[in-house]
Amino acid sequence: MRKKIVAGNWKMNKTFQDAEELVSTIAEELDGVDTKCEVVLCPPFPYLEMASDYADESGLQIAAQNVSEYTQGAYTGEVSADMLASIEIGYCIVGHSERRKYFGETNAQLALKVENLLEHAIKPIFCVGELLDERNSNSHFEVVKQQLSEGLFQLNEDEFSEVVVAYEPVWAIGTGVTATSAQAQEMHAYIRQLITEKYGKTVADNTTILYGGSCNAKNAKELFANPDVDGGLIGGASLVAEDFIKIVKSF
Ligand code: 13P
Repeated sequence: MRKKIVAGNWKMNKTFQDAEELVSTIAEELDGVDTKCEVVLCPPFPYLEMASDYADESGLQIAAQNVSEYTQGAYTGEVSADMLASIEIGYCIVGHSERRKYFGETNAQLALKVENLLEHAIKPIFCVGELLDERNSNSHFEVVKQQLSEGLFQLNEDEFSEVVVAYEPVWAIGTGVTATSAQAQEMHAYIRQLITEKYGKTVADNTTILYGGSCNAKNAKELFANPDVDGGLIGGASLVAEDFIKIVKSF
């Protein structure tokens, strides 16, 4: 049985104090609740250790939002997989469309990041998704296929089994325009089909595929009801404890 996950990507938001309040509220509200999914919080780097302390007590998982493609040394401003492992971070987002767009990250760089994480037993949450133009020109399947082929499919079966995939259509991120339930299911089924072709049915059946892009407390239930949608990677709605908790309870 594959794992259901709801992950909150806080992006570049919150002061330390606000972040601590958010993580402590979420931990408190979910205390003793039998969630049907794993709950992952992805705060900015400086708050990871603080968030981890809450996580230890509450069963939350903590993820970084990025990792360096380099392993160590003179790379000012970078954070390595080794550093994340040393504070027991369990997951890390890789290849978010904002990293691809604003920081020019390529599939080749993302493949290195994935490799570094797996060497340190950190699970990558690997993001794929098409631009609006690409959907309008009907090349969205091709785009996602290429992102998977060049960023992930270099992994062997054991390595790939540690990966979470997140489908985030770029036109749905932060826009309030979510993919329809049918669009999400169609792409998730396609991604699972590609994984089946590459790694076989058992691996594909066990791969968690998250949806991201204007997922909120109102539409999460419908999106998560699709057979190939195993949860969400939530941006804006993860910054408000009440909304995020509603999403977590949408299974
Ligand atoms: P929004 O939920 O704000 O659209 O962001 C989605 C996202 O980018 C999560 O990684």
